[in-house]
Amino acid sequence: MACSTRTMVVACLVLLVAGSSLGAAGLPAGGSSAEDRVEELLARMTLDEKIGQMTLFTSTWAQTGPVMDAGYLDHIRSGKCGAVFNALTASYTRYLQTIAVRETRLGIPLLFGYDVIHGHRTIFPIPLAESCSWDLAAIERAARIAAIEAAAEGLHWTFAPMVDIARDPRWGRISEGAGEDTWLGCRIAEARVKGFQGDDLSRPDTIAACAKHFAAYGGAQAGRDYHTVDVSDRTLEEVYLPPFQACVRAGVRTFMTAFNEIAGIPCTGHRGLLTSLLRGRWAFTGLVVTDYTSINELVPHGFAADLAEAGQKAVLAGVDMDMQGGVFMNHLRRQVESGDVPLARIDEAVRSILRLKADLGLFDDPFRYCDEAREKRVVFCARHQAEARAIARKSMVLLKNDGATLPFPPGLRSLAVIGPLAEAQVDLLGNWHGAGDGGKVVSILQAVRERVGPGCEVRYAKGCEVDGKGRSGFRAALEAARGADAVLLVLGERETMSGEAASRTDLDLPGVQNDLAEAVARLGRPTAAVLLNGRPLTLTRLDAAVPAILEAWFPGSLGGRAIVDLVFGDAAPGGRLTVTFPRSVGQIPLYYNMKNTGRPVVGEEKYTSRYLDCPNTPLYPFGHGLTYTTFAYDSLHVDPPAIDAGKPVTVTVNVRNTGKRTGEEVVQCYLRDVAASVTRPVRELKGFRRIRLEPGESRPVEFLLGPGDLAFLREDGTWGTEPGEFKVFVGGSSATTLEGSFTLR
Ligand code: NOJ
Repeated sequence: MACSTRTMVVACLVLLVAGSSLGAAGLPAGGSSAEDRVEELLARMTLDEKIGQMTLFTSTWAQTGPVMDAGYLDHIRSGKCGAVFNALTASYTRYLQTIAVRETRLGIPLLFGYDVIHGHRTIFPIPLAESCSWDLAAIERAARIAAIEAAAEGLHWTFAPMVDIARDPRWGRISEGAGEDTWLGCRIAEARVKGFQGDDLSRPDTIAACAKHFAAYGGAQAGRDYHTVDVSDRTLEEVYLPPFQACVRAGVRTFMTAFNEIAGIPCTGHRGLLTSLLRGRWAFTGLVVTDYTSINELVPHGFAADLAEAGQKAVLAGVDMDMQGGVFMNHLRRQVESGDVPLARIDEAVRSILRLKADLGLFDDPFRYCDEAREKRVVFCARHQAEARAIARKSMVLLKNDGATLPFPPGLRSLAVIGPLAEAQVDLLGNWHGAGDGGKVVSILQAVRERVGPGCEVRYAKGCEVDGKGRSGFRAALEAARGADAVLLVLGERETMSGEAASRTDLDLPGVQNDLAEAVARLGRPTAAVLLNGRPLTLTRLDAAVPAILEAWFPGSLGGRAIVDLVFGDAAPGGRLTVTFPRSVGQIPLYYNMKNTGRPVVGEEKYTSRYLDCPNTPLYPFGHGLTYTTFAYDSLHVDPPAIDAGKPVTVTVNVRNTGKRTGEEVVQCYLRDVAASVTRPVRELKGFRRIRLEPGESRPVEFLLGPGDLAFLREDGTWGTEPGEFKVFVGGSSATTLEGSFTLR
């Protein structure tokens, strides 16, 4: 989306003519409350102007889906479009805003949205990676920085966070969420909302967040994107919905409906979800936007016979704004005039939109977010890059490290860097990298060269492509690796292989990368593999071939340097998995908090819940992650051993750094309700602490488990606790065997 010089000149002239009195919408700035101003404005609006506010169109910078209709400027001018997405930069948004404010009858400012998913220009690790940091403050900071950069480029609204719980790595969008656990997903959702919105939405460096995709989009059958979701009411309530409710509690200003259906009702026309639950039970008062053309998709879903019916169902279900579909624009007026859609529902929708614009401060100054000087100062600045590098290091997960292969020792004379992603730039950014610029990314190869200096010969060979069958590069790769002091394999997926519309049935390393890794590893040199990917892969072959694997995910703008920091021991890997890595696709769905069944596996017994050809256990469990030191756990105490309903219990454990380096551990606490009126998962995460210990240092770590931690959706449909025995597990992953218990009387 380049703004031509001519259009910019016109925009500047309009601004000059407009002078500096910026009070939009013809309303007196200040004085009356935001609520009064919204009501005054609403009273003056025609039905067409109201429907215009409910219409969102994309600028030509769409990352997915069709490019917007060429007449969009006319729609803005005629008040038929109240919000725009994918338009950015201070100057371009100023240009569009000028049209809205100066040329429409009421001068209502536009709302500018964008997918600021994991950074704006400074790109942070993909959300799944960031969740592996288990560092809520860092996650909040990353969202804060993203908001600062986005707001400086004229944006008011991000379509994030995505809070869909995902238990199926075939689904490419698992990369955009916080993993498989609901409790952790809630904490991360809150951190991201706080980061984007800050304490005061009217500050020019905060933007409105959007909880998406409401709801259960991550439950797509067979991991195929946009596919049917059919989950039990219990799973919906206990697994998929809580992160959305956490967003409401954190004050999120907007919600996005999901593409999928749940048990036969597409979410974009789901009154039970959008009205009864969201606005009713949860008392959400913000704005509900659809996903991209998801009203139109009610027709192929088979939920509406035509677009008119689709629009009617959506608006009556509780949708306030139509993203890109043009359905409200084309059909709503007739439906209101005929009485099929009550005007009161339209007013309610428009109110939520105008209120957001008012709270963003747009009626006081519609141009407050278009500040070229601020944009120059903050976007991709050194401070933001340093934060991105630090968070990337915390997000990477050391999956295995036999024989302390990593970090590579000082004084290497030669290092072979091999693999199809060693020179990658844009792939380091990962899917949904917004306005991130791959050209500014330092590749892993370049970062290695700069780190080792002239004393170490860096031998680079690509080996093979990410995908495809070609092996002609193997010979050069083997030559580079033969006799090298160490070998760094850089393998994985291209960034486009995960994210939206990027489901896969085969989760192994694509192409012939496993063959390459095996051939190189057979040379017996100290070999470590670094992986770039957006989802758990089935790494059984790689795990058997190489002694060390660092899961770097898609680590963002500073990812190349962060990887090198870890590989050479300038920092230690800090990540722990927030998603299970299966051994094989046949195990999916596989997640740590499964149910026990009536026939759990016992030894080799045949008639138990098992496979003939694969263990039930994952290759790497939820919570797993190594670092450059080791930790031991002992002295688990649960106090008191029996509690009355409503009382808390304290769990204490002693953690000791048993290695030679300072290190950070993520101490995790899981709970199991042994017997209840409905079956409970074998373990559920209830708390964690990230602690730093010097070599030899030990420290008691405490968790306080309150009634809320023990509660679940009981057989009678109410949330609460039931008496009985609870087991407590504490350790460095969900597979910990350190266990205690207490009784709830
Ligand atoms: C479709 C995606 O599902 C959604 O997450 C995104 O925010 C919109 N497109 C807008 O780009």
